[in-house]
Amino acid sequence: MHIHKYEKWWLSFGAAMLVAFLVIVGVSAFHNGTHPNNSKWTINYEKVDEIAPFNQPGVHKVEGKDWDYEVVLVASAFSYNPMNIEIPVGSKVKFIATTKDVIHGFEVAGTNINMMLEPGYVSEYVTTADKVGEFLIVCNEYCGAGHAMMYSKLMVVN
Ligand code: CUA
Repeated sequence: MHIHKYEKWWLSFGAAMLVAFLVIVGVSAFHNGTHPNNSKWTINYEKVDEIAPFNQPGVHKVEGKDWDYEVVLVASAFSYNPMNIEIPVGSKVKFIATTKDVIHGFEVAGTNINMMLEPGYVSEYVTTADKVGEFLIVCNEYCGAGHAMMYSKLMVVN
């Protein structure tokens, strides 16, 4: 069977477009937005309060690491612990977060910090707090009746 030259060309063009589309979807889904379960760190979600570092939620200054602060955060229906996070501007921060019950989100509105918190897993994200301001932290995974009231605040200060 003879395949016309243009037909061949269009067939390969179609195949290439399909590949390009899948690559774009695959990369963009995980590249800059949501970070579902980006760690292999597992945890017994029923004992989160007893397990370090989650037995001490809050902002911790650290030495000798690639970041200056660790924000240890525990989500549960329908709040975050701690409620308020304060970080000096310019510091490098590692968010270490998990949930005590169901899936919650951790999105810092107006930034690209956006993690999914799954029971049994620890989610981590390193970023630099380079903008002074107050940022709303919202839960963007539906978690029940109080979902819309689940938020906390990140303050980047001078
Ligand atoms: Cu927690 Cu929605």
